[in-house]
Amino acid sequence: MKTRYQKSEALLQRALKTIPLGSQTFSKSRTQYPFGVSPYFIAKAKGSRVWDVDGNEYLDLVNSLCAVTLGYNDPDVTNAVRAQLEDGVIFSLPHELETKVAEKMVEIVPCAEMVRFGKNGSDATSGAVRIARAFTKKDHIAACGYHGWQDWYIGSTARNLGVPQATRDLTHLFEYNNIDSLKKVFDDHKDDVAAVIMEPMNLAYPKEGFLEEVRDLAHKHGALLVFDETITGFRYANGGAQEVFGVTPDLATFGKGLANGYPVSAVAGRADVMKLMEEIFFSFTFGGEALSLAASLATMTKLQTHPVTKTLVQTGERILQGLNALITKHDAGVFLSTAGHPTWSFFLIKDTPNYTSWEIKTLFLQEMFARGILTIGTHNVSYAHSAADVDKLLNAYDEVLTILKAAITGGNLKQMLRCEPLQPLFKVR
Ligand SMILES: Cc1ncc(COP(=O)(O)O)c(C=O)c1O
Repeated sequence: MKTRYQKSEALLQRALKTIPLGSQTFSKSRTQYPFGVSPYFIAKAKGSRVWDVDGNEYLDLVNSLCAVTLGYNDPDVTNAVRAQLEDGVIFSLPHELETKVAEKMVEIVPCAEMVRFGKNGSDATSGAVRIARAFTKKDHIAACGYHGWQDWYIGSTARNLGVPQATRDLTHLFEYNNIDSLKKVFDDHKDDVAAVIMEPMNLAYPKEGFLEEVRDLAHKHGALLVFDETITGFRYANGGAQEVFGVTPDLATFGKGLANGYPVSAVAGRADVMKLMEEIFFSFTFGGEALSLAASLATMTKLQTHPVTKTLVQTGERILQGLNALITKHDAGVFLSTAGHPTWSFFLIKDTPNYTSWEIKTLFLQEMFARGILTIGTHNVSYAHSAADVDKLLNAYDEVLTILKAAITGGNLKQMLRCEPLQPLFKVR
């Protein structure tokens, strides 16, 4: 009998023979998508929709892990890329587009006076850390949130396999909205901290004055403040979280939403600090790759000429209001809640006395995928999400919350799973 995910599953088995995990990131792998009830490969995408290799259509709430803000295959971005393709992708000398994109970022992002490009968010965060170390002549880093795969950060998490102890000893995590936890880092490492790097927000809003206190504490101790705006940049507002919260960091890093899914990232910030990029080593063969820069210019121009981020907020607010009302309607507040900014919000699941959050999440995903909603439990809103898309999502939530509530109260959640539950995985937020 042909199952809904037959081709996906066969392709996964094939991929696993040549690709460890069958995916380039945990977030797109079978560790996040329970085997037997999930798609594993996307064939194509347009607007708010994606189609898996079995031909199933989904309303996509993942949007390539927040990289897509305008919607897939946005015509303005695609046309800009096509036009650039005629002239070339990468050259033996810089292309003018690099300056144009840098100038556009300086125009839009409050902290940006100078800009350098990388490819992934991790390039940018690691570049910012290196430049902060060079500028301050200090080695220790205080970090809060997720900042990518490189040694300096990932060594501070449970996924530290392969990272030397000497590197791990230099990064110290502090807690969001807990200024004392940052004070402790400064107490323990006195004036040896080069940078405080943080996501300006992920799940929780900053408490009144928190970001200002972080900035002042960093500066008091001679450290730079770096906002990792890989997700919040060009999403929360055109100028990112720093614009929304009115706190300007010394440096900021961008990735994901900078080019509507094309691979380009950036470090931006104070000119006196950024000038040191001329002395440190931050260098990529593809740093000036022109298709992504053309995509970036088209994306930022669209942000300026269309009410993109305002619409993302409105769409996200409708999702959150609708979902919160459904949680109340289904009396599911004990195990379900929401958090985050409307443009990047979270559907949170807690353990119940009988089930772990992972078991509940598995049933949730099974039922959402079956209803044509691609989700990892967040709402990564795009400009292509229409009012009808929000209705479709909320209808699916209504049905799935009915199922979750019945399974939890009825004590038959495991019988309802058509797969093994997801295993607890390393979490960064
Ligand atoms: C806040 C933040 N910083 C850095 C990164 C790393 O970006 P990349 O995976 O593009 O290297 C991510 C990726 O999810 C992120 O969310």
